[in-house]
Amino acid sequence: MLTLGIETSCDDTAAAVVRDGHEVLSSIVSTQDQIHSPFGGIVPEMASRSHLEKIDNVVTQAIDKAGLTLSEIDLVAVTAGPGLIGSLLVGLSFAKGLSFATGLPLVPVDHIQGHLMTLDLAGGTPFPSVALVASGGHTTLFELRSPDSIHIVGTTLDDAAGEALDKAAKLLGLGFPGGPAIEEAAQTGDPEALALPRPLMQSGNLDFSFSGLKTALFTYLQRHGYLDRTTAGQPRLPLSTADLAASYLEAVVDVLVSKCRNAVKFCDVPHLVVVGGVARNGHLRKKMGAAGSRDGFQVHFPPPSLCTDNAAMVAAMGHRTRNKALTDVFDLNAYSTKSLRTRGPRRKGH
Ligand code: KG4
Ligand code: ZN
Repeated sequence: MLTLGIETSCDDTAAAVVRDGHEVLSSIVSTQDQIHSPFGGIVPEMASRSHLEKIDNVVTQAIDKAGLTLSEIDLVAVTAGPGLIGSLLVGLSFAKGLSFATGLPLVPVDHIQGHLMTLDLAGGTPFPSVALVASGGHTTLFELRSPDSIHIVGTTLDDAAGEALDKAAKLLGLGFPGGPAIEEAAQTGDPEALALPRPLMQSGNLDFSFSGLKTALFTYLQRHGYLDRTTAGQPRLPLSTADLAASYLEAVVDVLVSKCRNAVKFCDVPHLVVVGGVARNGHLRKKMGAAGSRDGFQVHFPPPSLCTDNAAMVAAMGHRTRNKALTDVFDLNAYSTKSLRTRGPRRKGH
C-alpha cells in the first residue's frame, strides 16, 4: 500500500511516499529557515505564504522521487493539527483538493502522533515504552502500552525544550533555528562554565518547565550589559558564547534525561523512544544512551532526518489509521491546539 504524506504544520513544507507504513520511498522537506532567520523565530503569515508557493512542487517531487505516478498512490495522509493554523490549512486544503480530484481516500493525522510513531520507519516502534516528544512546540512524555493505548504522563508547563533552545540562541545572537546553532556553538564550550537551574528536576513529577532557564540566561546577559542596546559597542562577557551555549544545552539535556529516567521507572517499561526536532541533538543522544545503559532500558532514536518535521512520519501514522480515511472530505478541518491531551490514569498520585 502506497501512502502519500503531506505535512505543513509549522515552517517545513514536506511530502513523502511510504510503502506499507514503514518503507520510505521518498521524503522531501523544504525548510523556510532563510525566510524566518532574520526574525529569530517563525513568522506565521510568511510561513503559510511560503507553503502555498511550494506545496505543489514538493508533492510532485515526492511522487517523482519515489518513481511513481499519482495514479499509483493508494492513500493520502495529511497533518490536520496541532500547529500554525494558516500553515496547516495550506497542506490540508491541498490534500482535500487532491482527494476530491482523484477520489483517493484521505486520512487526517495528528502531528504529535506522527512524531510518536516515527520509529515505524526505522525498525519499528517498541511496546511497551515511554516516548519523549521534544520539539519546538512540544515537550511531552507518553506511556505507550500499545498503538491504541497512549497516555500523557508529563508535559511542559510553559516553553518546549526546542523553544527554549531557539530563544537562548536568539539571546546569544546565534541565529535560527536555535537548536542546531546551540549544538554547534557548544562543541568547544565548557558545560560547567555557568551554573544554570534545572527547573522541576527534583519536583517528583514528570512535568517540565523551561521558561525559568531562559530567564536565568537572560538575567546573566542583562547583568553584564550584553543586552543593553544603548551601550556603544558590545560589552565583553566574562564567559564565551561557546561556554554559555554548552552550559545552557547541558541544563536542557540534564532535565530531559532525568525526567525520562523517572518516566521509564514510573511506567516500568523496558524501552525509551526519543523523537521530535530536539532528538537530533548529539549531546542528548549520548547522555540518554548512557542513562539507558546505567538503568537497564533500551534507548531508541530515529535517524536525525526523521526527528525534525517530515511527511514520512505522517504517511506512517496515516497508514496505521487507514480505517479512518475519508472519501467525503469536504468538512475536514484543521485544528491549532487540540491534540493528544489525555492524561493517563496511572499518573494519579504521582
Ligand atoms: O520537530 P520539529 O522540526 O518541529 C516542531 O514540531 O516543533 O522541531 C524543531 C525544533 C526547533 O526548536 C529546533 O531548534 C530543534 O527542534 N532542533 C534541535 C536540533 N535540530 C533541531 N535542537 C537541538 N539540537 C539539534 N541538533
Ligand atoms: Zn514537529
